[in-house]
Amino acid sequence: MESKEIGRAQGTYINSQLDGKGLYLVFSLIFTHGEFKGSTLEIQGSDIFPMKEREFGVVSGTGYFRFVKGYGIMQTEFMDIPNLRAIIKLNVTVKHY
Ligand SMILES: *[C@@H]1O[C@H](CO)[C@@H](O)[C@H](O)[C@H]1NC(C)=O
Repeated sequence: MESKEIGRAQGTYINSQLDGKGLYLVFSLIFTHGEFKGSTLEIQGSDIFPMKEREFGVVSGTGYFRFVKGYGIMQTEFMDIPNLRAIIKLNVTVKHY
């Protein structure tokens, strides 16, 4: 992976399925560089992580993203379970209301 960092996710993953394959997530995507620096997207949804593509909701945002709603698709690019780290690719579509 050689892409430039433009932001970071901060939030919580909660185990939400008896078989351990389902998570519930709620996090802020905080833009730290680039055009949207200082703005956030607020993301919430279920993450059945063994699936290649998972859809989640974008419930709101701050800064440039005030009054947005949308959805996105996430794909796991890299997962390091012992150290609880992962790189996740998000393709997000939002609309201003
Ligand atoms: C991102 O999602 C949009 C709409 O869901 C889709 O049209 C587009 O092709 C996707 N882009 C990539 C890079 O997957």
